[in-house]
Formats: sequence, structure tokens, C-alpha cells
Amino acid sequence: MTAVLCVFSMLCMRFAWMVRPRNHMLLTCHAPNESVQLYQLSRWLRHQRNLQQKEDVAASQIVTHSISFPQA
Ligand SMILES: *[C@@H]1O[C@H](CO)[C@@H](O)[C@H](O)[C@H]1NC(C)=O
Repeated sequence: MTAVLCVFSMLCMRFAWMVRPRNHMLLTCHAPNESVQLYQLSRWLRHQRNLQQKEDVAASQIVTHSISFPQA
């Protein structure tokens, strides 16, 4: 959804800029939405990266435990 809104706002901003006369009102309406959607995308990417790091740490702990507590 965020990516779709991002592309939508970008296309509308381009349209507002290219059309004659320039539609500054439409551009002004979409500029904040575009920046907010980009920020949301960056938040999502950061979350995915943290998730991956947690999985890596968990996986390494499983390996460590199987080495430090061998079966009798
Ligand atoms: C910008 O985002 C708000 C909140 O999602 C929405 O209500 C508004 O219609 C959007 N503006 C434009 C020009 O699409």
C-alpha cells in the first residue's frame, strides 16, 4: 500500500509539474504525502533489517548452546 501511494503521489506530482499552466496546488498537496510515504518505506526496511538480525542472533545462539551443552 505504501509503495502504491508512493508511486501515485510521484505520478501526480509529475503531472502537476508538466501540465500547462503548472498546477502548484496539486503539487503542494502531494509533496507531503510523498515524503511521508517514503519515510514509511524506510521504516519498513529498517524493521525488516532488524528482524533479520534477530533471526541471525537466535540461530547463532542455537548453535552455541548445542556446543556448550553436549548430550551426556
Ligand atoms: C494525502 O494523504 C491523505 C491521508 O492519507 C489523504 O487523505 C489525501 O487525500 C492525500 N492527498 C492527495 C492529494 O492525494
